[in-house]
Amino acid sequence: MSKRILLGITGSIAAYKALDIARLLRQDGHDVQIVATRNALRFFPRLNAEIFTGHPVYVDLFDSSGSVRHVELASHSDLILIAPASADFLSKMALGLADDLLSAICLSTNSPILVAPAMEENMYFHPAVRENMKTLLSRGIREIPPETGPLASGKDGTGRLASPDAVKSAILSVIEHTQTWKGVRVLVSAGPTHEPIDPVRFIGNRSSGKMGYALAAACASRGAAVTLVSGPANLLPPPGVTFRSITSARELEMEMGKAFPSHDICFMTAAVADYRVKDPLAGKKKKDGKVWTLALVENPDILSSLSRMKTSQQYLVGFAAETVLDPKKLLEKLRKKGADMLLANDVSQPGIGFSSDTNELTMCLPDGQVISLGRHPKTVLAEKILDAVEKWGTLPNLVSDHEPSAHARRPPRG
Ligand SMILES: Cc1cc2nc3c(=O)[nH]c(=O)nc-3n(C[C@H](O)[C@H](O)[C@H](O)COP(=O)(O)O)c2cc1C
Repeated sequence: MSKRILLGITGSIAAYKALDIARLLRQDGHDVQIVATRNALRFFPRLNAEIFTGHPVYVDLFDSSGSVRHVELASHSDLILIAPASADFLSKMALGLADDLLSAICLSTNSPILVAPAMEENMYFHPAVRENMKTLLSRGIREIPPETGPLASGKDGTGRLASPDAVKSAILSVIEHTQTWKGVRVLVSAGPTHEPIDPVRFIGNRSSGKMGYALAAACASRGAAVTLVSGPANLLPPPGVTFRSITSARELEMEMGKAFPSHDICFMTAAVADYRVKDPLAGKKKKDGKVWTLALVENPDILSSLSRMKTSQQYLVGFAAETVLDPKKLLEKLRKKGADMLLANDVSQPGIGFSSDTNELTMCLPDGQVISLGRHPKTVLAEKILDAVEKWGTLPNLVSDHEPSAHARRPPRG
């Protein structure tokens, strides 16, 4: 199956080997677009690379064509491979710098990123590089570890760019991984709801939508057909996802009710307001020096109404924002709501949950299991949730066959 692969080449002595990788990927039918750092150009012949791939080699972030090149390249690539990845570039990625085309693409993409480091052994095992690699792995970036053998310095050691075959098989495993949800239709709700008070005011909550958007992106990258129904969130819908925008809980209930029957899996991630204003005002309320009392009525419980519609062929995942996590109460909630899985987070803890990039989730299953998924960036948690659905769900279309990324380990000395 042919993919659009963006091959990032950085300033390592091994950069010329990237052309062998490009050639192998092209032989397998993939479209390869090279983006190089300015320093990388010192290490490989640009013209050869353009002839091998049939595309110009892009370097510059700023371009006069009127397009936003880094966003276009990021969204048109199914997979990003940085090979070789220099120590310098790994640091930039870990820091989230975006001062050249390749680093800006790495920040802008929703596609999987693989890095194949190549450098001298002391560089590779330097604590700074190890720390950066750890950060990247924790964000879901996969490493294709370097090999051990003769290095450019003439010494033997670890740091040789992985062979084209090793790179190819790592890519294949990501491509296969990404297709494990092909044919599965996923519905995700995300973000807050806004309940109108008058034409200019509303009752909202602190949800950013990041968890739901990360789930939608992860499902899409595994090949699922995804519908994302979102409340007001300051986020771009992931590429390839069908997007519906809603504002209030009742609009969300309507959209979810319409869409639910035609989907196999539903992640009810939206932070739905429990209450709405009983009688929103038609005109803007002016100050009148008096106490203003609002009457609130309960909003519909969308998760419960979806669970009543659910067939045995569907899998429903609910989310709960709690200020105390009591496993017994969570299991009771799961049973009451009728969902197949409940993911709870403690929103009282600083640095996790609403609006943060990190979350800590506890998973509850109908058989009474309560499992911690740990504290991770939301993009990593999204993958863990999908892995859990593959493991605990009973959907016939899902195949669980992927491996966690290999972590670099220093070989014992002597
Ligand atoms: C001859 C030479 C070979 C180099 N080889 C490597 C290498 O294999 N790996 C690496 O991480 N850095 C290597 N460097 C250092 C990088 O080129 C340098 O850190 C540069 O800033 C990387 O730029 P980039 O990350 O923007 O591509 C080498 C430098 C020179 C002069």
